[in-house]
Amino acid sequence: MKETIDRLRSAGTVRIEAVDTIAAVEATRVALLGRKGEVTLLLRGLKDVDPADRPTVGAELNRLKVELGDLLDAREVAIAGGGQGTAASFDLTLPGKPPAAVGTNHPLVSVLESICDIFFGMGFSRGDGPEVELDYYNFTALNFPADHPARDIQDTFYINEKVCLRTQTSPVQVRYMERTEPPLACIFPGRVYRNETADASHSAEFYQIEGLVVDQNISLADLKNTVDTFVQNFFGADEPTRFRPHYFPFTEPSVEVDMQCMVCRGKGCGVCGQTGWLEIMGAGMVHPNVFAAAGYPADKYTGFAFGMGIDRIAMLKYGINDIRLLYENDLRFLQQFRGVL
Ligand code: PHE
Repeated sequence: MKETIDRLRSAGTVRIEAVDTIAAVEATRVALLGRKGEVTLLLRGLKDVDPADRPTVGAELNRLKVELGDLLDAREVAIAGGGQGTAASFDLTLPGKPPAAVGTNHPLVSVLESICDIFFGMGFSRGDGPEVELDYYNFTALNFPADHPARDIQDTFYINEKVCLRTQTSPVQVRYMERTEPPLACIFPGRVYRNETADASHSAEFYQIEGLVVDQNISLADLKNTVDTFVQNFFGADEPTRFRPHYFPFTEPSVEVDMQCMVCRGKGCGVCGQTGWLEIMGAGMVHPNVFAAAGYPADKYTGFAFGMGIDRIAMLKYGINDIRLLYENDLRFLQQFRGVL
């Protein structure tokens, strides 16, 4: 009997391994384990075995039944495609299914990050400040006294008399200087708000990036070099820049920075309003009253600051003609930037 069982074990195993369709697996299962199957018949013949041997032979037959059943199950799974690496069921060379929808960064975020990368390359670090800001940091500490007319240019939304939505990233300058001793070089990107009616070039929310450098003997020439390095790296060309005198309460002297129009190369066109120049940022030397608000000793340090609109920079670089497109979340617009930025 022991020999019969062993023979059936090896013959059954060979048979199971040879089949290659589900139907053949099932037929083999019937032939071995079915009601008239070979293993079943042997089990039935157990009653003729010497009673002394019956328990061992019975246990052996049951083990064979389980083993063959497991082999049949495994063969079935392999043929159905679940088998790992069986040549017929799994083709490694088939192309994968493309995912239905892949998200990307918003173009404003991508532009913000690439601007930051350029300043990181120049040794700047990155800081942050609140969008809901104290009037003190947004205006007073930046040398806008209460009732000063310069506040009118940056009208905003007030939470109460002392708290507003920041109109610029400049308040982070003061917050940062309060806790940092020079020398320092830092950028502060973020969202700002103004009480504006939306049109093609105005939005009640937009993004700015502020830059601040303070040390001994920092000059306007350092500002110019920093701006030129940024323009060359971001716009990928050596368009000249120019400083125009301007007024900001928190810088003295103050300038607006223009770069030569990269569309007409200075000749004058629709993009630059026929001037040949595009305004890209406000800047200047940090006003002594701002150093005083930050608690720096008088006359020890000089520094420069600049602030630019990230929306405007993105619009110039990618030829976007309406700022509202950046806030509407229209996928037809946003998807054009996939893989570009
Ligand atoms: N905060 C100014 C604005 O929003 C820009 C600026 C920043 C000017 C830093 C000078 C220095 O218009």
